[in-house]
Amino acid sequence: MTLLDLVKQRKSVRDFLDRPVEREKIMTCLEAARLAPSACNSQPWKFVVVDDKHLKNKLCDAAFSGIYSMNSFCKMASVIVVVISEKSKFLARIGEMFRGTKYYLIDIGIACEHLVLQAEDLGLGTCWIGWFNERAVKSVLNISQHKKVDILIALGYFDKERLGPEHSRESIDKIASFNSY
Ligand SMILES: Cc1cc2nc3c(=O)[nH]c(=O)nc-3n(C[C@H](O)[C@H](O)[C@H](O)COP(=O)(O)O)c2cc1C
Repeated sequence: MTLLDLVKQRKSVRDFLDRPVEREKIMTCLEAARLAPSACNSQPWKFVVVDDKHLKNKLCDAAFSGIYSMNSFCKMASVIVVVISEKSKFLARIGEMFRGTKYYLIDIGIACEHLVLQAEDLGLGTCWIGWFNERAVKSVLNISQHKKVDILIALGYFDKERLGPEHSRESIDKIASFNSY
């Protein structure tokens, strides 16, 4: 499969099977994330993989209650990857200040997409999750409240027949141009 085929095939999964994900496959996903590029090679991330069913359920109950309950489907996923945004290298932080650009979020985005595409290649489904109770997540996993958790990734086996509809995308001419805006 070409990379473009893989990218075309990936869709957010919100209906997971009750089947554990092998640690070996999770490690392959983490390896893909580990190799991601980052500003000044800061690698400003830490991945806490929650694959213990009891803990994962507790995490999901805490993370997706009340106003966050639209994401309670995540409880069906066997794995939740909690992505902690760690401090970037000094030079990257200086650059962020001067440019007003949050390089660390770009870095985290690249690493997570590496993870997601690797998961897709292994036949696993994922869903990026940006809407959750951050304080509760940190509390359940003993992550300092001073740290930032910007994103979670739900990961697990899924039924290809039960995938939701494809999300449309803007056309190339709407999002890209050559040589001028
Ligand atoms: C940064 C980010 C945050 C997202 N947060 C959520 C979320 O909280 N809940 C959810 O169901 N989907 C979430 N998504 C998934 C998007 O809704 C989805 O990627 C988009 O609609 C395109 O659909 P597709 O992934 O199936 O191509 C998020 C995606 C990104 C990149």
